[in-house]
Amino acid sequence: MTSPAQSGSAGDPLGLLDLFGDGFVRDPFPWLDALRADAPVHHDQDTGLWLISRYEDVRRVLLDPDTFHPDNAQHAVAPLPVDVLRVLARAGFKMPPALANNGTASHPGLRRVVTRFFHARRVAAAVPVIEGVADELLTAARQRIDAGDDHDLFPGFAQVLPCRVLMELLGIDGVSPATLIRWSDASLELFWGRPDPRRRLELAELVGEFHQWLTRTVRDGTAPPDSFIGALTAHRLPDGEPVDVATAVGVCFFVFIAGQSTTGQLIATVLSRALAEDGLWPRLASEEGLAEAWVEEVLRREPPVTTWRRVAARPVELGGVTLPAGAQLLLMLMGSGSDPEVFDTPERMCPHRAEVRRHLAFGAGRHRCPGASLARTEAAVALRAAARHLPRIRPVADVADVPMLGLLSFRAPLRVAVGQPS
Ligand code: HEM
Repeated sequence: MTSPAQSGSAGDPLGLLDLFGDGFVRDPFPWLDALRADAPVHHDQDTGLWLISRYEDVRRVLLDPDTFHPDNAQHAVAPLPVDVLRVLARAGFKMPPALANNGTASHPGLRRVVTRFFHARRVAAAVPVIEGVADELLTAARQRIDAGDDHDLFPGFAQVLPCRVLMELLGIDGVSPATLIRWSDASLELFWGRPDPRRRLELAELVGEFHQWLTRTVRDGTAPPDSFIGALTAHRLPDGEPVDVATAVGVCFFVFIAGQSTTGQLIATVLSRALAEDGLWPRLASEEGLAEAWVEEVLRREPPVTTWRRVAARPVELGGVTLPAGAQLLLMLMGSGSDPEVFDTPERMCPHRAEVRRHLAFGAGRHRCPGASLARTEAAVALRAAARHLPRIRPVADVADVPMLGLLSFRAPLRVAVGQPS
């Protein structure tokens, strides 16, 4: 796919936008710039979504949950065909309002169960756990690289580190990290991707397995009280009733995915961008605060959660356009981080820029990501540890050849292959 500038279509270059196309996934910046400049509230014919790309508009939507409801946050991007629905129904799959998709009175209490596990003190206490897992994984990576092999830091490090940390923090057991990662990635691809019919069925089987395992685990009532599932079981809804199984499973489904896949994707982008930046890698291990600042710039410019959805509860004016009730909005979180109205020279990676934390990579308002502190800490620890353990590595593939995850709301390199300089 060409970029909007190259399209040569004088009429409506944005009509050629393909949110799932390789061109957009690899280099979305020219498209995001064109959207912000020429059509900040743009109806995408292909998906039927209204693309909202200016920082102030995105923020306004996030901060007004009465007008912009979160109900569509987890809807499948493409309608699921009957054979897939049948597989999910057989597994008892349901997605009742739980966290990100919950605009009802049960949301604040359910959210508090989550925040108890991820507040700043808990995250600070988890740093030795994160460092321990990072050291173990990077020692294995170093042995392979020292033996002259190339090593892919995505599956061997970026993906597995947040999964193991999450399992430790939430007291998840009875499943291997590899299985949890497979289930979680399958869920993202099924609901946020456009896989072909065969792949969709395979994904539905995996999502069904995941859901059944969660249901069994929630139902059997043996989770320790200090585990996440134990805390959910003890929680009472505003009407004084315990959380029903379907809602508890819905909460776990979201947290077990959000709590690791997105952070794995962030670490992959953080590592590959740091390796590509002239002179940065050798400074990361020793320069105080540099890893944290680099993570923040990546979150601004190239966050793993690139978009998020809302639905208009009533007709509303936004960016000069009147949206009808029921309009499905796609908030371009990633594009908002490059809005020149807010960030000077947004195309430059400036880890020490003054407004570095103003980005919307974790959303804003009532549903703002409660895992932000954990994600930031894990990514900074991972980056610093990689620079310390593997000071001489270099990427072995050209950026243009690296396979990319390109779902509606999730984007990251799927390979971070490194080796020693020859
Ligand atoms: C780099 C990693 C991550 C990114 C970029 C990210 C991003 C987001 C975004 C954009 C939202 C929607 C916010 C909104 O609607 O305003 C969200 C919600 C959420 N995230 Fe994260 N997230 C990350 C990591 C995590 C982690 C580690 C957890 C661990 C628990 C987590 C748990 C959640 C939950 C539970 C919600 C729903 C909150 C609610 O509806 O009240 N996320 N995240």
